[in-house]
Amino acid sequence: AKYTIIDKETCIACGACGASAPDIYDYDDEGIAYVLLDNNEGTTKIPSILEEDMLDAFEGCPTGSVKVSNQSFHGEPTKFD
Ligand code: F3S
Repeated sequence: AKYTIIDKETCIACGACGASAPDIYDYDDEGIAYVLLDNNEGTTKIPSILEEDMLDAFEGCPTGSVKVSNQSFHGEPTKFD
């Protein structure tokens, strides 16, 4: 299973991730993205049916702020950088 989290420090609110994967990513009041499923903790296994959307978002983020890993992020976006 895969996990995902947004690095809100580097997100520039471009809006691409939520367009690619609206069931995973949403935006706060300032347009900064976060993971809907676990309030951006990166602790939730992403359902396999959503994996392709997640990878599209990962590849499409212009700032590399969409993080994906085989392990839980435990709330730390830069854990595996
Ligand atoms: Fe931000 Fe990247 Fe999404 S810049 S809005 S995390 S595509």
